[in-house]
Amino acid sequence: MEPLCWQSSGLELVDQRQLPHRVTRLRPATVAELVEAIAGLAVRGAPAIGLAGAYGVALAALEAGPPEMPGYAPRVRALAGRLARARPTAVNLGWAVGRVLAELAPLPGAAWPAAALAAARRLHEEDRSACRRIAAQGAELIRDGGRYLTHCNAGPLATSGVGTALGILIEAARQGKRIEVLACETRPLLQGARLTTFELLEAGIPCRLIADGAAAWAMARLGLDGVVIGADRIAMNGDTANKIGSYGLALAAHWHGVPVTVAAPCSTLDAGCPDGAGIPVEERSPDELTGHGGTRWAPHGVGGWNPAFDVVPAEWITNIVTDAGLCRAPFSGLREWAGQTTQDPGVPQG
Ligand code: MRU
Repeated sequence: MEPLCWQSSGLELVDQRQLPHRVTRLRPATVAELVEAIAGLAVRGAPAIGLAGAYGVALAALEAGPPEMPGYAPRVRALAGRLARARPTAVNLGWAVGRVLAELAPLPGAAWPAAALAAARRLHEEDRSACRRIAAQGAELIRDGGRYLTHCNAGPLATSGVGTALGILIEAARQGKRIEVLACETRPLLQGARLTTFELLEAGIPCRLIADGAAAWAMARLGLDGVVIGADRIAMNGDTANKIGSYGLALAAHWHGVPVTVAAPCSTLDAGCPDGAGIPVEERSPDELTGHGGTRWAPHGVGGWNPAFDVVPAEWITNIVTDAGLCRAPFSGLREWAGQTTQDPGVPQG
């Protein structure tokens, strides 16, 4: 299932808040509607929100009015800025919006709507290709007969291809390796329970759902061959922002001697962040903790703290797999790859 695509009628998103039980599609017609869809997690996952932002610049180029009207370019840039700020942690969003704007800069305004769409389509293809490369390289780390744990959702729904962390596991299974995957529920919005298990079942991979709080005990009691997670932003020393709970998972894995593999495209590497201290961590409404869908389980009046991500220190990470290659501590290769895009020679561009 493709999380997003541009049809003749415009941008179409699968509303991931409704999955797995209902497949409904949204067609944001304005930048404001798309910002709401990104901030509300209708579309989610670092590479997918980057692509949504890229297509959003095409929406902005249409919405900002006839290109010949005075102030057209600043209006497009202002709308693009709103897209880039829709969520703060995944660097892919600002990166993709910036890539499309950079392609528009030398062109006359009249060319912007078509050029923005072409640039977004190119990024979409590049992401598909990046996922293939990550999956192929990462699958080499997966042992036939092994048991792996993943957190949140870093599969096809979070990208435009086979996924990053989940792509590795899907590719290993496709190669005939018999693996079992434990998927953390991923509180509070249950991306693991709703989306990752759905994608693993679709791929025919044996999987079991566990409560987030059971992960460390799974390492102690069941034994794990690895933790495989995605990333929303990777600093140059390897410190990695990912879904809240990743810090605790990596800490437990470090203690138990379980290797931790992080998988992400080069667009997730942030050359502007020397280490994790500079990574902005999104804090969401405590309402996500106190109840859901009209059911409230926490008492009225209780406060909450709801960071959506945490930052895993590089020292607890064994491998970082990108589309440009595999990196190990001290992760010195990351700077060279930051923001780079790699392409399969066979992938049509344009
Ligand atoms: O809040 P979300 O659902 O957008 O968080 C997504 C994650 O943390 C993913 O694990 C990460 O973006 C990697 S996506 C390939």
